[in-house]
Amino acid sequence: MSFTASMSLHVAIVMDGNGRWATQRFLPRLAGHKQGFEALRRIVRVCPTRGIDTLTVFAFSSENWGRPADEVDGLMEMLANGLAKEVPQLHQDGVHLRFVGERNHLSAKVQKGLQQAEELTAANQGLHFNVCFNYGARWEIAEGVRRLQANGEAISETALDAALPLRPSRDPDLIIRTGGEYRLSNFLLWQAAYAELYFSSLLWPEFDEKALDAALHDFAQRERRYGKTSEQVRKGS
Ligand code: IPE
Ligand code: IPE
Ligand code: MG
Repeated sequence: MSFTASMSLHVAIVMDGNGRWATQRFLPRLAGHKQGFEALRRIVRVCPTRGIDTLTVFAFSSENWGRPADEVDGLMEMLANGLAKEVPQLHQDGVHLRFVGERNHLSAKVQKGLQQAEELTAANQGLHFNVCFNYGARWEIAEGVRRLQANGEAISETALDAALPLRPSRDPDLIIRTGGEYRLSNFLLWQAAYAELYFSSLLWPEFDEKALDAALHDFAQRERRYGKTSEQVRKGS
């Protein structure tokens, strides 16, 4: 199976391994994050040619605040400046950019940058690009519950599903994690219910178009049964 622009896949990525990439080269960890940013730029560009209409990436977790202050500050700086530089090109490419995560604790400058980028690209019809920033799946589920409570809505699976901050993006078809770890680290726990999981031993800065194709090829071999039998799936019933 080859992936064409007419397909509609939602791929989500835990971009892990920046620090190790830098350490292996005797570079500061921030150099790894910078290189990781470049890897992300490349992947965003190829998504539409691979039938990926939605890309969701894990950029900074709720738990990453626990890292050394200079790393956290550097990552924030990279987002504020690096992203501001990318937004015009993303906009030109028709990318619809959204940030998913807790914003209240971010600096006013970062919050403003996120909001401006979202407003500028809101009407774009190209790649839906969700950046999970200061995101944790447990935060997201709690946030969904808070929204229902605020509206006086009864809690049901359907109502909570619709109230989650990642919506309206549908559930990911494929979740890729680089960096050789076999865990989700608080990423999309609700939406991962029936996602296919793919783990790559490559460190995120090394993850390129070829690596993405290998993941998509692997995904194409999977049979998604959603609790049914293989026979039912093959008959389409
Ligand atoms: C992932 O790379 C990026 C972020 C968490 C921001 P890491 O920084 O976790 O890289 P490793 O896992 O230490 O190699
Ligand atoms: C997950 O990577 C978070 C991001 C990629 C942003 P971590 O490096 O924080 O995950 P753990 O700590 O290894 O589980
Ligand atoms: Mg890591």
